[in-house]
Amino acid sequence: MGNKFQNFAEEDLQPKSFEFNNENVKKANEFIKIYPQNYKESSIMPLLTLAQTQCGGWLPKKAIEYIANFLGVSEMKVLELATFYSMYNLSPIGKTHIEVCTTTPCMLRGSDNIVKLCKNKLNLNVGESTEDGLFSLIEVECLGACVNAPVAKIGDHYYEDLNEENFDKIIENIKNNKKLYKGSQILRKGSEPYKGKPIKI
Ligand code: FES
Repeated sequence: MGNKFQNFAEEDLQPKSFEFNNENVKKANEFIKIYPQNYKESSIMPLLTLAQTQCGGWLPKKAIEYIANFLGVSEMKVLELATFYSMYNLSPIGKTHIEVCTTTPCMLRGSDNIVKLCKNKLNLNVGESTEDGLFSLIEVECLGACVNAPVAKIGDHYYEDLNEENFDKIIENIKNNKKLYKGSQILRKGSEPYKGKPIKI
């Protein structure tokens, strides 16, 4: 399920250098301490996440090189992980990055309609950003919240029990800078049986 964000950005977008800021150097060293010294590769993923956050949601080539040097591992090992997981982006994403799960439980509960809604409402295809850079959209594999399918991740948060109506409102609220209600959109607590009425968002 490849998307353009899993391909390296054009050269003119690539920064000339990258290094962790002071805060992230400290955090990176804390991560390294968690794992045995002879398993430095174990820290690659948290360091990729730090770098991606520092770079505004994507990983330039220089960040991959920097992490390899920081840990003393080969660039290929870092690249293998950065290209395997859809949560790492190798080119710039939209300000609001929408990841819709389309694996079987979500698909059976209507994730295709959520993808279609995004495409029509935002006028973009999966793997693309809107021209104004405000939104980008990808399909992802299971987000691990199947009990509340269908599910989408927007930024760092999950939105669950989606349907076209509530997801349309979520997009509208993002456009209008309104507060979003995270988690189950039908007010389910965890994965308890649904008892209440759909909430207004
Ligand atoms: S299948 Fe969508 S969250 Fe698991």
